[in-house]
Amino acid sequence: MKQTCWQILKRPLYQKKLRFVIATSGLARPNKTTTLLVQRPICMESPLYVARPILPDLSQLNELLEDVWSTRIVTNEGPLHNRLEEELKAYLGVPVAKLFASGTTALICAIRSLGLTEGAEIITTPLTFAATAHAIAFCGYKPVFADVCEQSLTLDPAAVETAISDRTEAVIGVHVYGTLCDVTGLQDVCRRRNLRLIFDAAHAFGSQKDGTSVGMVGDISVFSLHATKLFHTLEGGLITTGNPQLAESIRLIRNFGIASEEQVDMVGINGKMSELHAAIGLLNLPLVEAEIAARAKLRQTYDSMIAGRPGLRSQLTQPGVKLSEQYYPLIIDPEEFGRTRDDIYEEFKAHGIYARRYFWPVCSDFAPYQSEKVHSVQAIPVVDKIKDRVLCLPFHSGVKVNHIENISNIMSK
Ligand SMILES: Cc1ncc(COP(=O)(O)O)c(C=O)c1O
Repeated sequence: MKQTCWQILKRPLYQKKLRFVIATSGLARPNKTTTLLVQRPICMESPLYVARPILPDLSQLNELLEDVWSTRIVTNEGPLHNRLEEELKAYLGVPVAKLFASGTTALICAIRSLGLTEGAEIITTPLTFAATAHAIAFCGYKPVFADVCEQSLTLDPAAVETAISDRTEAVIGVHVYGTLCDVTGLQDVCRRRNLRLIFDAAHAFGSQKDGTSVGMVGDISVFSLHATKLFHTLEGGLITTGNPQLAESIRLIRNFGIASEEQVDMVGINGKMSELHAAIGLLNLPLVEAEIAARAKLRQTYDSMIAGRPGLRSQLTQPGVKLSEQYYPLIIDPEEFGRTRDDIYEEFKAHGIYARRYFWPVCSDFAPYQSEKVHSVQAIPVVDKIKDRVLCLPFHSGVKVNHIENISNIMSK
């Protein structure tokens, strides 16, 4: 017989578990909080995470894998890998799509393909996942962190301009949460100052601006196909570019720089995607549109939940932009809203709702970037404010009405 949340919560074993979780979480005095939780009929049957991977039908996966098993071609640009590259070119509307083992490997290969001078500086945003800055440092270059625009939270072209030194050779903009960078502004600075431009499009799969694919702007765009992303291959990455010369270097760097059996043209790494990962990608791609539709609906629901509430705002609406529907970032102004981001985050957590403070801490806070020799941080007032205010809500087709009620109740207290 199906039990209600209330019945589950009242079970002695569950209450014991709850007391243990509360006592070890350091949230509040155990007895008081335990009483409070067990008296409130909030559903805690399973945790609700910020992301939930789409997954293909297992029998379809088996069918694809039977071919792999029979040929024993399991990696190194196998047939499934090549088919997925073709399907992604068509889906994203780009001439070149190169698959990688991860988004981070793809970023490293993209940066290496530019052939920058040793010790060059690359300007980027600190409001991003660690991989953006780490890829720069890993390649031996110096990340220089500049501020973001207040509304879009993406790299501010004016801040980039003031961060340029005589060692600057490239800029990496990040379409953070799926909000597109000021592409025209960044392209303009890079053209005038003779800088290369990469976009970290990890959050922007399928985004378009006025009908143009986000994968067609700048020199190179890099996508993550990690399981937390809208379209994924469990682990994986993708590079798109409109520049055929760069495409060839990127392909070589991905495979140890090997041009032929007898010839190695450049220093490269193993960035290849296996047939198993490509199979997941081929089966996930047709599922993406339904997931986007479910998330677009959830976005509307969240938007109405916060509408007219002082101190709450979400992602900037950008005219002409088809959103990737990757994240739903909520920006909480503690003075106006009356509660801090961390209060709400902890309360969500106590109710099994795992919202994420993306991105806090920011890259310029990380230990490896504290030395002036490694990085240079200008004043970043917008990032410094936003990093304590942003909270990404659970955002996927597994978020149901009861979850939304819980989220809304917690936000309304
Ligand atoms: C903005 C950004 N860049 C790069 C990456 C790295 O991608 P991956 O985890 O596939 O290596 C991520 C992953 O979450 C990301 O969010």
